[in-house]
Order: sequence, then C-alpha cells, then structure tokens
Amino acid sequence: MSEKPSKYYVTTPIYYVNDKPHIGHSYTTILADVLANYHRLLNVPTHFLTGTDEHGQKVQQAADANGITPQEQCDQTVVRFQELWKRLEIKNDDFIRTTEPRHKTVVQETLQELFDKDEIYKAEYEGWYCVGCERFFTEKDLVEGNCPECSRKVDSIVESNYFFRMGKYQAWLIDYIETHPGFIQPAFRANETLGFLKTKTLQDLCISRPKVRLAWGIELPFDTDFVTYVWFDALINYISAVGYKSDEEQFKQWWPCSCHLIGKDILTTHTVYWPTMLKAMNVEMPQSIFAHGWWLTGHTKMSKSLGNVVNPMDMIDSYGVDAFRYFLIAEMTLGQDASFTEESFVKRYNSDLANDLGNVANRVLNMISRYCDGKIPSVSSNGFDSSLEDALWKEAVAAAEEMGSMIGNMKLDASVSMVMSIVRKINVYLQERAPWSLAKQEGAEAEVAYCLYTAAECLRVCAALLYPVMPEKMLALRTALGMADAKPHLGKLAEFGVLIPGSAISQPGALFPRIEVKSVEATPSSLPPKKSKRDEGGAATKKKSGEGTASTKDGLITFDQVMNVKLRTAIVLEAEKIEGADKLLKLQVDLGEEKRQLVAGIALHYAPEELVGKTIVVVANLKPAKLRGVISEGMLLAASKGDTLKLVTVEGDLGSGAAVK
Ligand code: MSP
Repeated sequence: MSEKPSKYYVTTPIYYVNDKPHIGHSYTTILADVLANYHRLLNVPTHFLTGTDEHGQKVQQAADANGITPQEQCDQTVVRFQELWKRLEIKNDDFIRTTEPRHKTVVQETLQELFDKDEIYKAEYEGWYCVGCERFFTEKDLVEGNCPECSRKVDSIVESNYFFRMGKYQAWLIDYIETHPGFIQPAFRANETLGFLKTKTLQDLCISRPKVRLAWGIELPFDTDFVTYVWFDALINYISAVGYKSDEEQFKQWWPCSCHLIGKDILTTHTVYWPTMLKAMNVEMPQSIFAHGWWLTGHTKMSKSLGNVVNPMDMIDSYGVDAFRYFLIAEMTLGQDASFTEESFVKRYNSDLANDLGNVANRVLNMISRYCDGKIPSVSSNGFDSSLEDALWKEAVAAAEEMGSMIGNMKLDASVSMVMSIVRKINVYLQERAPWSLAKQEGAEAEVAYCLYTAAECLRVCAALLYPVMPEKMLALRTALGMADAKPHLGKLAEFGVLIPGSAISQPGALFPRIEVKSVEATPSSLPPKKSKRDEGGAATKKKSGEGTASTKDGLITFDQVMNVKLRTAIVLEAEKIEGADKLLKLQVDLGEEKRQLVAGIALHYAPEELVGKTIVVVANLKPAKLRGVISEGMLLAASKGDTLKLVTVEGDLGSGAAVK
C-alpha cells in the first residue's frame, strides 16, 4: 500500500436529533468507518469523530411537536443514533453532542474572541428566513419567492442580530480553493463553490438568533438576549472535540482534519462558512472536505412525506450488518447519487457475496477439509508447473498494492470491485486447476497442496482488503482459514506464506446464505402440476412423458407447450451435499445472465467435485421450489435407465445461457 499519511482524522456531519436516523445518515457514518478502518490497518494513528447537532429550530420544533423539552428531545433521540452505530459495527473514537459543556465552552470562547477582534458586529437585519435550512436569504437569492436550497416557503424577518464578517474573506477563499486542488472534493464540487463565490457577493453571516424567537441554543457570551446560530455552533464541533482551546497537545495531534465527509446538501456551509470562520479564528484549514451524493429510492429523493425512506434497522434485520455495509460502499460511486432498492440489494448480495465470495470461501475450505485433512497444507513448488499459481498470487498482490491509492483517491466502490474480481479469479483458477481431479492422481499430493494453499492465501488477502467494509464476516473467514491472529495488518499483507501449514481450518457455515428470490417469472403452461409428488429427485430430473400437464387426450403436447419450456445451458460453479438428504446435491450454476441455485437428486450418481465446470442443461423457467428446506430455482436434465443416471450435457464450448431447442 502506498501514500501512507502520518495521521488520519475523519469526521461525519453531526446529525440533527429531530428525527430517527435513516439510510443517508448511516451511509456517511459507514463511509467514515470504512476509511478509518483502512487507516487503522495501515497503522496510521486514526481518529474518527461523529456526533449530534442538538440546538436550533428543528430540534425545538420536534420537541414542541412531541410535547417534551428540547433537552429531552436530544436525550431520547441521541440514543437511537448511538444504538444504530453500535449495530452497524461503527468504531468511532469519539461522539460529540453539541449540548455538552466541552463544546459549549469552546463555542462561547470563540465567539468572544471574534467579537473582541471585531470579526463579529451587531446590525439590523431585514431579509428572508428559511426555517427548514435555518438560513437567511436576500430577496435576490430567492427562487420564485421560495428558498433557493429546499424550495420551501420563506418568512420575512426584520430584527437586530450579530454578524460575522464573512464577506471580507471572499477573495481569500477563492484564492485558497484555486491553489489547493484537493481541498474540496470531488473537483466538480469545488467548481460549484467557486461558481457561487465568483458570481455573487459574499454576504456577512448572521450568527445569532434573538431568544424571543428561538431560545434553544448556546447563549452569546456578549449579549444574553441572543443564542448562537446553529450552524456557527455546529461546525465548531470538529475542533472542540479534539481539544481546541482545552487541550493543546490533543489539538496538535489531530488538527488539521484529514477529511470532513459531508453530503452534497451541506456543501456551502462546509466550504464557505467553515473555512472563513477558521480563517478569522486563525486556525489551519482542514485538508479536505468531501461531498458525497444522495441515496435515492429508485430515482426519487427519499423523504418522509413520500414514505420512501429506507430504515437501516430493517435492512440489518433482514440481511445482516456486513451485507448492508458492503452494498452501500459497493453501490455508490463517491460524489454521485445512487439508487437504493431492495431488489438491487438482493441482486448484488446474491451475485457478489453469496455466489462469488461465499462460494469461493466454501470451496477452498471444503477442499482443504477433504484433501488436506482439514489443515493448511505444507507447500513445496518443485517438480511441477506453478505458473497458474504465480499468476493468481501476482494479481492478489497487485490488488493489495493498488488499494492504498484507491482509498487515498476515495475510489471505494472501485476498490471493492477490484477485490471481487480477485475473488472471481480464484474461482476460475480452481476450475482450471481442478484439484478434485488432481487428488485422484497418484503422486500429485504436492500439487494439490500447492493449489489449495495458494487459493487460501489469495482468499486471506481478499478477506483482509474487505475487512474494513465487512469486519465481522471477514474476521470469521480469516479465523476459518486457521489464523490465530485473524485481524489483518495491511503492512505485511502481500507476503506469501502467512497461513501456517498444519493449522486447523474450520467451517464458518454459509458466510452469505443466498437470499431466496420470491418472484421468478414462470410461464404457467410450463409449470409442473400443482399436486405432483416431489420426491428428492423431483427438481432434478424431468418427468416421464405422459406424466403431469399433458393437455391432449392422447398424452401428446403441442409445439407451443414445448416452446414454453425454456431450456438453457448452464455451467456448474459449485456443488455440495445437502445434510440429511443422501440423494440430493445443491448446485450453484451460471446461467449466462444470472446465477442460480439448483437442488438435484443426483448425489448417488455424481460426486460434487465431478460436476464443477460441466456444462449442463437446465429448465430455466420453472417456478422455484424448496426441497428439504433448500430453494431450487430450476431443474437440470438427466437421462436414466435402470440404476444408471447421466446428465444431459452439451458438446463443445457453447458457454452458459445458450437456448436449447
Ligand atoms: N446538522 C447538520 C450537519 C452539521 S455538520 C457540522 C445536518 N444534519 S442532518 O441530520 O440533516 O444530516 C445531514 C447529512 O446526512 C448529510 O450531509 C448526509 O451526510 C447525510 N444524508 C442525509 N440524507 C441523505 C441521503 N438521502 N443520502 C445520502 N446522505 C444523506 O445537516
């Protein structure tokens, strides 16, 4: 890994406690956690801060609506955030609440200092105020008379207030952004801020609210009739939490912040208010401010009124924490919007986690059990061609090396997909090397050992690289590979030979059990009769002619009925026995456009390892059914006579997904 910083301090926005957390809050926090995890693995001293924004009008209004005090509103809601972070395996080093004395003191001292320096002054204000955004706008700012940020109605306001001399930093800020290309990321967001700064006059910022209008805030130290504007208060959390004005040593250790992660909705406050505030305070600028896009439901913005807000707790309950974390990181290209649907979640889960990663882990561990006595084998590479192993290992090392710069460049989705491509390469390699065939050859023990050791080593690397995203599952996988110290250290990741020969592997169970897809399209006339008795072989072999749905009296079926049966070629990726069912095998097959799971009554005729790599024929539009509790999403074709059963296979190299007519 390259580009190792000397320290890493990452923050999330502090979340309003007016409502419970949703997927958007979860996303920013998981993102920060993943980045913090990567840096911790690199042995970079890391500090990860999150927290809650507890003052201001939104919280006051929520408290009023709930008939409780604002402090009660904060105390009740903050727990929901903290509980969710715990469930999401978030390992933040600190959690700041803006109602804590350690924060309030710093805000007040800062205000006093700026007031004394004449950076803050009192004036009469006349303008438009948006309650939702808690921001003032001038007449010119409004779009069709409404808030330019959220399009809601704005209120006309005339009152005395205190102002921060933000306007005088306009030229300085333009210059700073232009001369520090990584300061606002992605670059198009920097352009957005610059566009605004270069075309509009930067106004001074109103940083107070008269108590008569809003009492829930930090009192101004120089005028007790006012409280502090919530954004001026909130932004200071990034420094109050790390010792600004209270612990110089701690402050020096962490500030400047490496990365403020924010959603695109709060770009202006972070790239205009915050830098100018810091400048006036004579505090160094953060190294970067990264704005990610929105999670949409399908193509629509998530909103409570539309009822389309995804509840993270529901997702975790249904699919597990690690899978949820994986999906969010893999699916969103940082900077752009992404769409969340349960369907896309299930699709990605089944293809990446169940079929690829889970499958490869199963295969490697099963074969080590079977062919190496359940222990990591000893390796010696003499006497046989190990070019396939060398090539695979090289790919894994290259991925490990590439990781650092990908994380540094915030290409998290690409980094995950890079690791997944290595996972798939392990699968392809196993297919090519076919250790199950080698195991049958006399004198090939060393070759089998070398093959499985290499596959296990590559899997170890993949599990380490995915650990920051899926800590629990990847720890389980590395433990299953016989590692006593399963927690990865990325520093020595790319050394071959970390797994210790002789250490016992274990079976972690299905790491990512396949999610049953309930709605598979099936053409009614091709379905088997409703009451047909399904024995163990029911989903495996086609029914004898005459049985079942024949619609004509003579037992013949029409051409159309034949055409309704969709037969496709499929490649067997994985096969295993089903516990407690002697005749059944569970197969994972590649059907071209998708992967499927089949249950087939062929265990008395085929060993699982014989099947992997074979091209078979499958009824692709059969309604899914459960056999011995295991879902089968199709039926393979086999011919039988007496005690003999042979799979229907395809000659030559047609690949998967070809129509069989
Ligand atoms: N309290 C302010 C932030 C102050 S930081 C000094 C605030 N809070 S918030 O509760 O509204 O949270 C906003 C943040 O939540 C966004 O910036 C973003 O990080 C995250 N998200 C909320 N909804 C989101 C989506 N639908 N999609 C992605 N993230 C969004 O603003």
